[in-house]
Amino acid sequence: MSTYILGIESSCDDTSAAIIKDTNILSNVIANQEVHKNFGGVVPELASRAHQQNIIPVIETALQKAKINKNQLNAIAYTRGPGLLGSLLVGTSFAKSFALGMNIPLIEVDHLQAHILSHFITDENKDIPEFPFLCLTVSGGHSQIVLVKDYFDMEIIGKTIDDAAGEAFDKSAKIMGLPYPGGPEIDKYAKKGNPNAFSFPEPKIQGLNYSFSGLKTSFLYFVRDNLKLNKNFIEENKNDLCASIEKAIVNVLMKKLQRASREQNIKQIAIAGGVSANSVLRKKLKANEEKLGWKVFIPKFEYTTDNAAMIAITGYLKFRKNIFSDQKSTPYARQRGKDKILDL
Ligand code: KG4
Ligand code: ZN
Repeated sequence: MSTYILGIESSCDDTSAAIIKDTNILSNVIANQEVHKNFGGVVPELASRAHQQNIIPVIETALQKAKINKNQLNAIAYTRGPGLLGSLLVGTSFAKSFALGMNIPLIEVDHLQAHILSHFITDENKDIPEFPFLCLTVSGGHSQIVLVKDYFDMEIIGKTIDDAAGEAFDKSAKIMGLPYPGGPEIDKYAKKGNPNAFSFPEPKIQGLNYSFSGLKTSFLYFVRDNLKLNKNFIEENKNDLCASIEKAIVNVLMKKLQRASREQNIKQIAIAGGVSANSVLRKKLKANEEKLGWKVFIPKFEYTTDNAAMIAITGYLKFRKNIFSDQKSTPYARQRGKDKILDL
Protein backbone atom coordinates (compact mmCIF):
# COMPACT_ATOMS: atom_id res chain seq x y z
CA MET A 1 0.00 0.00 0.00
CA SER A 2 1.27 3.49 -0.83
CA THR A 3 2.07 6.10 1.79
CA TYR A 4 0.86 9.68 1.29
CA ILE A 5 2.54 12.48 3.24
CA LEU A 6 1.89 16.21 3.33
CA GLY A 7 5.08 18.26 3.73
CA ILE A 8 5.05 21.87 4.94
CA GLU A 9 7.96 24.33 4.69
CA SER A 10 7.85 27.79 6.28
CA SER A 11 11.37 28.41 7.60
CA CYS A 12 12.15 31.63 5.74
CA ASP A 13 10.24 33.54 3.08
CA ASP A 14 8.62 30.77 1.02
CA THR A 15 5.39 29.11 2.09
CA SER A 16 5.30 25.69 0.52
CA ALA A 17 3.24 22.49 0.68
CA ALA A 18 3.87 19.22 -1.14
CA ILE A 19 2.25 15.82 -1.35
CA ILE A 20 4.44 12.77 -1.76
CA LYS A 21 3.32 9.25 -2.64
CA ASP A 22 6.15 7.03 -1.40
CA THR A 23 9.18 8.66 -3.06
CA ASN A 24 7.27 10.39 -5.89
CA ILE A 25 6.16 13.99 -5.62
CA LEU A 26 2.53 14.51 -6.66
CA SER A 27 2.49 18.27 -6.05
CA ASN A 28 4.88 20.93 -4.81
CA VAL A 29 3.29 24.36 -4.41
CA ILE A 30 5.42 27.37 -3.47
CA ALA A 31 4.18 30.87 -2.63
CA ASN A 32 7.09 33.32 -2.85
CA GLN A 33 6.88 36.46 -0.78
CA GLU A 34 7.31 39.45 -3.09
CA VAL A 35 7.10 41.79 -0.11
CA HIS A 36 10.88 41.49 0.66
CA LYS A 37 12.12 42.49 -2.80
CA ASN A 38 12.77 46.13 -1.98
CA PHE A 39 14.39 45.55 1.39
CA GLY A 40 17.56 43.76 0.22
CA GLY A 41 16.76 40.79 2.47
CA VAL A 42 13.97 39.01 4.31
CA VAL A 43 12.08 41.07 6.89
CA PRO A 44 11.09 38.52 9.59
CA GLU A 45 7.92 40.34 10.74
CA LEU A 46 6.59 40.56 7.20
CA ALA A 47 7.56 36.95 6.49
CA SER A 48 5.49 35.52 9.40
CA ARG A 49 2.45 37.53 8.35
CA ALA A 50 2.72 36.41 4.75
CA HIS A 51 2.99 32.78 5.90
CA GLN A 52 -0.26 33.23 7.85
CA GLN A 53 -1.98 34.48 4.71
CA ASN A 54 -0.53 31.82 2.41
CA ILE A 55 -0.53 28.61 4.37
CA ILE A 56 -4.15 27.45 3.94
CA PRO A 57 -4.44 28.28 0.20
CA VAL A 58 -1.05 26.68 -0.49
CA ILE A 59 -2.04 23.44 1.28
CA GLU A 60 -5.44 23.36 -0.44
CA THR A 61 -3.77 23.82 -3.83
CA ALA A 62 -1.23 21.09 -3.07
CA LEU A 63 -4.05 18.63 -2.25
CA GLN A 64 -5.99 19.62 -5.38
CA LYS A 65 -2.96 19.30 -7.66
CA ALA A 66 -2.10 15.90 -6.18
CA LYS A 67 -5.72 14.87 -6.75
CA ILE A 68 -6.02 13.35 -3.32
CA ASN A 69 -8.38 13.87 -0.41
CA LYS A 70 -6.95 14.93 2.95
CA ASN A 71 -8.36 11.73 4.47
CA GLN A 72 -5.86 9.74 2.40
CA LEU A 73 -2.87 11.32 4.18
CA ASN A 74 -0.83 8.97 6.36
CA ALA A 75 1.23 11.64 8.10
CA ILE A 76 2.16 15.30 8.13
CA ALA A 77 5.79 16.46 8.01
CA TYR A 78 6.90 20.01 8.78
CA THR A 79 10.10 22.03 9.09
CA ARG A 80 10.99 22.41 12.75
CA GLY A 81 14.20 24.43 12.14
CA PRO A 82 16.59 26.06 11.59
CA GLY A 83 15.04 29.29 10.33
CA LEU A 84 13.19 32.40 11.41
CA LEU A 85 11.26 31.62 14.57
CA GLY A 86 8.11 33.55 13.64
CA SER A 87 8.00 31.86 10.24
CA LEU A 88 8.62 28.39 11.69
CA LEU A 89 5.85 28.89 14.25
CA VAL A 90 3.26 29.30 11.48
CA GLY A 91 4.13 25.94 9.83
CA THR A 92 4.62 24.18 13.17
CA SER A 93 1.28 25.33 14.61
CA PHE A 94 -0.58 24.42 11.46
CA ALA A 95 1.06 20.98 11.24
CA LYS A 96 0.30 20.20 14.88
CA SER A 97 -3.35 21.22 14.63
CA PHE A 98 -3.84 19.39 11.36
CA ALA A 99 -2.25 16.18 12.68
CA LEU A 100 -4.37 16.41 15.82
CA GLY A 101 -7.56 17.07 13.87
CA MET A 102 -6.91 14.28 11.37
CA ASN A 103 -5.54 11.92 14.02
CA ILE A 104 -2.43 11.11 11.97
CA PRO A 105 1.26 11.09 12.99
CA LEU A 106 3.36 14.24 13.05
CA ILE A 107 6.94 14.21 11.72
CA GLU A 108 9.42 17.01 12.38
CA VAL A 109 12.06 17.69 9.75
CA ASP A 110 15.38 19.52 9.87
CA HIS A 111 15.57 21.98 6.97
CA LEU A 112 19.24 21.28 6.15
CA GLN A 113 18.81 17.53 6.26
CA ALA A 114 15.83 17.96 3.95
CA HIS A 115 17.85 19.93 1.38
CA ILE A 116 20.23 16.95 1.19
CA LEU A 117 17.53 14.27 1.24
CA SER A 118 15.76 15.94 -1.71
CA HIS A 119 18.12 13.76 -3.77
CA PHE A 120 16.02 10.72 -2.84
CA ILE A 121 12.92 12.00 -4.66
CA THR A 122 12.55 9.59 -7.54
CA ASP A 123 10.13 11.27 -9.94
CA GLU A 124 11.39 11.07 -13.52
CA ASN A 125 13.38 7.96 -12.52
CA LYS A 126 16.30 10.13 -11.50
CA ASP A 127 19.47 8.40 -10.22
CA ILE A 128 19.86 8.57 -6.46
CA PRO A 129 23.23 8.78 -4.69
CA GLU A 130 24.70 5.84 -2.79
CA PHE A 131 26.14 6.20 0.72
CA PRO A 132 28.62 7.60 1.50
CA PHE A 133 28.49 10.73 -0.63
CA LEU A 134 29.49 14.37 -0.21
CA CYS A 135 26.90 17.10 -0.40
CA LEU A 136 27.68 20.78 -0.84
CA THR A 137 24.76 22.50 0.87
CA VAL A 138 24.74 26.12 -0.19
CA SER A 139 21.85 28.41 0.66
CA GLY A 140 21.13 31.90 1.90
CA GLY A 141 21.74 30.84 5.49
CA HIS A 142 24.19 27.95 5.26
CA SER A 143 27.28 26.78 3.39
CA GLN A 144 28.58 23.38 4.30
CA ILE A 145 30.33 20.34 2.91
CA VAL A 146 28.52 17.38 4.44
CA LEU A 147 29.70 13.78 4.54
CA VAL A 148 26.45 11.85 4.19
CA LYS A 149 26.91 8.37 5.67
CA ASP A 150 23.24 7.47 5.86
CA TYR A 151 19.82 9.17 5.68
CA PHE A 152 20.12 10.47 9.21
CA ASP A 153 23.88 10.25 9.78
CA MET A 154 25.47 13.39 8.37
CA GLU A 155 28.79 14.93 9.38
CA ILE A 156 29.76 18.52 8.57
CA ILE A 157 33.39 18.40 7.39
CA GLY A 158 33.67 21.97 6.14
CA LYS A 159 31.74 25.20 6.47
CA THR A 160 31.89 28.94 6.04
CA ILE A 161 33.38 30.84 8.94
CA ASP A 162 31.33 33.95 8.16
CA ASP A 163 28.80 34.60 5.37
CA ALA A 164 26.92 31.84 3.55
CA ALA A 165 27.45 31.50 -0.21
CA GLY A 166 23.92 32.75 -0.92
CA GLU A 167 24.56 35.73 1.34
CA ALA A 168 27.71 36.52 -0.66
CA PHE A 169 25.56 36.58 -3.81
CA ASP A 170 22.79 38.60 -2.13
CA LYS A 171 25.15 41.16 -0.58
CA SER A 172 27.12 41.63 -3.81
CA ALA A 173 23.84 42.13 -5.66
CA LYS A 174 22.74 44.71 -3.10
CA ILE A 175 26.02 46.62 -3.62
CA MET A 176 25.08 46.84 -7.32
CA GLY A 177 21.52 47.93 -6.49
CA LEU A 178 19.98 44.65 -7.67
CA PRO A 179 16.85 43.34 -5.91
CA TYR A 180 16.68 40.47 -3.40
CA PRO A 181 17.32 37.57 -3.81
CA GLY A 182 20.50 38.58 -5.61
CA GLY A 183 21.76 35.13 -6.65
CA PRO A 184 19.41 34.63 -9.61
CA GLU A 185 19.94 38.28 -10.67
CA ILE A 186 23.73 37.90 -10.72
CA ASP A 187 23.39 34.59 -12.55
CA LYS A 188 21.20 36.28 -15.18
CA TYR A 189 23.45 39.29 -15.93
CA ALA A 190 26.63 37.18 -15.66
CA LYS A 191 25.58 35.16 -18.70
CA LYS A 192 26.27 38.23 -20.86
CA GLY A 193 29.48 39.23 -19.06
CA ASN A 194 33.18 38.40 -19.00
CA PRO A 195 34.16 36.46 -15.84
CA ASN A 196 37.79 37.56 -16.24
CA ALA A 197 37.02 41.28 -16.50
CA PHE A 198 37.77 41.94 -12.81
CA SER A 199 39.54 39.82 -10.24
CA PHE A 200 39.10 39.70 -6.49
CA PRO A 201 41.51 38.27 -3.88
CA GLU A 202 40.97 34.64 -3.02
CA PRO A 203 40.33 33.99 0.71
CA LYS A 204 43.00 31.84 2.38
CA ILE A 205 41.27 29.67 4.97
CA GLN A 206 42.72 26.43 6.32
CA GLY A 207 41.25 22.97 5.85
CA LEU A 208 37.82 22.52 4.34
CA ASN A 209 36.35 25.69 5.81
CA TYR A 210 35.92 28.80 3.73
CA SER A 211 35.03 32.47 4.03
CA PHE A 212 33.16 35.02 1.96
CA SER A 213 33.24 38.21 3.99
CA GLY A 214 36.65 39.36 2.66
CA LEU A 215 35.49 38.80 -0.90
CA LYS A 216 32.35 40.83 -0.29
CA THR A 217 34.35 43.68 1.28
CA SER A 218 36.83 43.81 -1.60
CA PHE A 219 33.91 43.85 -4.05
CA LEU A 220 32.32 46.70 -2.07
CA TYR A 221 35.54 48.78 -2.05
CA PHE A 222 36.20 48.05 -5.71
CA VAL A 223 32.73 49.24 -6.75
CA ARG A 224 32.84 52.24 -4.40
CA ASP A 225 36.27 53.39 -5.67
CA ASN A 226 35.20 53.06 -9.29
CA LEU A 227 31.96 54.93 -8.67
CA LYS A 228 34.04 57.90 -7.49
CA LEU A 229 35.70 57.99 -10.91
CA ASN A 230 32.62 57.20 -12.97
CA LYS A 231 29.11 57.48 -11.56
CA ASN A 232 27.81 55.14 -14.26
CA PHE A 233 30.38 52.44 -13.44
CA ILE A 234 27.83 49.86 -12.29
CA GLU A 235 25.43 50.42 -15.18
CA GLU A 236 28.23 50.30 -17.75
CA ASN A 237 29.85 47.18 -16.28
CA LYS A 238 26.94 45.29 -14.73
CA ASN A 239 27.35 42.12 -16.78
CA ASP A 240 31.12 41.93 -16.23
CA LEU A 241 30.80 42.72 -12.51
CA CYS A 242 28.21 39.95 -12.12
CA ALA A 243 30.26 37.42 -14.11
CA SER A 244 33.44 38.24 -12.16
CA ILE A 245 31.97 38.04 -8.66
CA GLU A 246 30.07 34.89 -9.62
CA LYS A 247 33.31 33.27 -10.79
CA ALA A 248 35.08 34.27 -7.55
CA ILE A 249 32.32 32.82 -5.32
CA VAL A 250 32.00 29.58 -7.31
CA ASN A 251 35.80 29.11 -7.32
CA VAL A 252 35.91 29.24 -3.53
CA LEU A 253 33.20 26.57 -3.30
CA MET A 254 34.72 24.32 -5.97
CA LYS A 255 38.25 24.39 -4.53
CA LYS A 256 37.13 23.16 -1.11
CA LEU A 257 34.77 20.60 -2.58
CA GLN A 258 37.56 19.15 -4.73
CA ARG A 259 39.81 18.99 -1.70
CA ALA A 260 37.08 17.23 0.33
CA SER A 261 36.61 14.69 -2.45
CA ARG A 262 40.36 13.97 -2.51
CA GLU A 263 40.69 13.71 1.26
CA GLN A 264 37.62 11.50 1.73
CA ASN A 265 38.25 9.56 -1.46
CA ILE A 266 34.60 10.01 -2.42
CA LYS A 267 33.57 10.79 -5.99
CA GLN A 268 29.82 10.83 -5.55
CA ILE A 269 29.12 14.54 -5.19
CA ALA A 270 25.72 16.14 -4.63
CA ILE A 271 24.68 19.76 -4.29
CA ALA A 272 21.70 21.18 -2.47
CA GLY A 273 20.22 24.50 -1.36
CA GLY A 274 19.30 27.66 -3.22
CA VAL A 275 22.76 28.37 -4.64
CA SER A 276 22.77 24.97 -6.36
CA ALA A 277 20.50 26.64 -8.92
CA ASN A 278 23.54 28.64 -10.04
CA SER A 279 24.38 27.89 -13.66
CA VAL A 280 28.18 28.32 -13.38
CA LEU A 281 28.36 26.07 -10.31
CA ARG A 282 26.33 23.42 -12.15
CA LYS A 283 28.57 23.66 -15.21
CA LYS A 284 31.79 23.34 -13.18
CA LEU A 285 30.46 20.34 -11.28
CA LYS A 286 29.43 18.62 -14.50
CA ALA A 287 32.86 19.31 -16.02
CA ASN A 288 34.42 17.41 -13.11
CA GLU A 289 32.57 14.25 -14.14
CA GLU A 290 34.94 14.03 -17.06
CA LYS A 291 37.96 15.71 -15.46
CA LEU A 292 37.98 13.97 -12.08
CA GLY A 293 35.67 10.98 -12.57
CA TRP A 294 32.95 12.42 -10.31
CA LYS A 295 29.35 11.28 -10.38
CA VAL A 296 27.42 14.46 -9.81
CA PHE A 297 23.88 14.75 -8.43
CA ILE A 298 22.13 18.02 -9.16
CA PRO A 299 18.57 18.46 -7.90
CA LYS A 300 15.73 19.37 -10.20
CA PHE A 301 15.46 23.15 -10.34
CA GLU A 302 12.26 23.31 -8.26
CA TYR A 303 13.91 21.31 -5.44
CA THR A 304 16.93 23.61 -5.09
CA THR A 305 15.49 26.68 -3.37
CA ASP A 306 13.21 26.24 -0.37
CA ASN A 307 10.37 23.85 -1.11
CA ALA A 308 8.12 21.39 0.70
CA ALA A 309 8.93 18.45 -1.59
CA MET A 310 12.18 18.02 0.34
CA ILE A 311 10.24 18.09 3.62
CA ALA A 312 7.82 15.47 2.29
CA ILE A 313 10.60 13.07 1.16
CA THR A 314 12.35 13.42 4.54
CA GLY A 315 8.97 12.80 6.20
CA TYR A 316 8.55 9.66 4.12
CA LEU A 317 12.04 8.36 5.01
CA LYS A 318 11.28 8.93 8.70
CA PHE A 319 7.82 7.38 8.39
CA ARG A 320 9.45 4.21 7.03
CA LYS A 321 11.67 4.11 10.12
CA ASN A 322 8.80 4.94 12.49
CA ILE A 323 10.44 8.20 13.58
CA PHE A 324 7.62 10.46 14.75
CA SER A 325 7.40 13.56 16.92
CA ASP A 326 4.90 14.77 19.45
CA GLN A 327 2.79 17.84 20.11
CA LYS A 328 5.34 19.23 22.57
CA SER A 329 8.17 19.88 20.09
CA THR A 330 8.97 23.55 19.49
CA PRO A 331 10.79 25.16 16.55
CA TYR A 332 14.53 25.86 16.74
CA ALA A 333 16.09 28.88 15.06
CA ARG A 334 19.71 27.71 14.90
CA GLN A 335 21.31 24.57 13.56
CA ARG A 336 21.59 21.79 16.12
CA GLY A 337 25.00 20.17 16.63
CA LYS A 338 28.32 21.73 15.68
CA ASP A 339 29.77 19.03 13.48
CA LYS A 340 26.70 16.94 12.76
CA ILE A 341 23.32 17.69 11.31
CA LEU A 342 21.13 16.70 14.21
CA ASP A 343 17.39 16.86 14.28
CA LEU A 344 16.37 14.83 17.30
O1 KG4 B 1 17.84 27.38 0.06
P1 KG4 B 1 17.30 28.76 -0.13
O2 KG4 B 1 16.08 28.93 -0.99
O3 KG4 B 1 16.95 29.42 1.23
C1 KG4 B 1 17.71 29.27 2.38
O4 KG4 B 1 17.54 28.25 3.08
O5 KG4 B 1 18.55 30.18 2.60
O6 KG4 B 1 18.48 29.64 -0.71
C2 KG4 B 1 18.30 30.98 -1.06
C3 KG4 B 1 19.61 31.52 -1.59
C4 KG4 B 1 19.60 33.04 -1.80
O7 KG4 B 1 20.74 33.58 -1.17
C5 KG4 B 1 19.65 33.19 -3.31
O8 KG4 B 1 20.29 34.37 -3.73
C6 KG4 B 1 20.42 31.95 -3.71
O9 KG4 B 1 19.92 30.94 -2.86
N1 KG4 B 1 20.20 31.60 -5.13
C7 KG4 B 1 21.18 31.65 -6.07
C8 KG4 B 1 20.57 31.30 -7.30
N2 KG4 B 1 19.25 31.02 -7.07
C9 KG4 B 1 19.06 31.21 -5.73
N3 KG4 B 1 22.47 31.97 -5.97
C10 KG4 B 1 23.20 31.96 -7.10
N4 KG4 B 1 22.70 31.65 -8.33
C11 KG4 B 1 21.40 31.31 -8.48
N5 KG4 B 1 20.91 31.01 -9.68
ZN1 ZN C 1 16.96 26.33 2.40
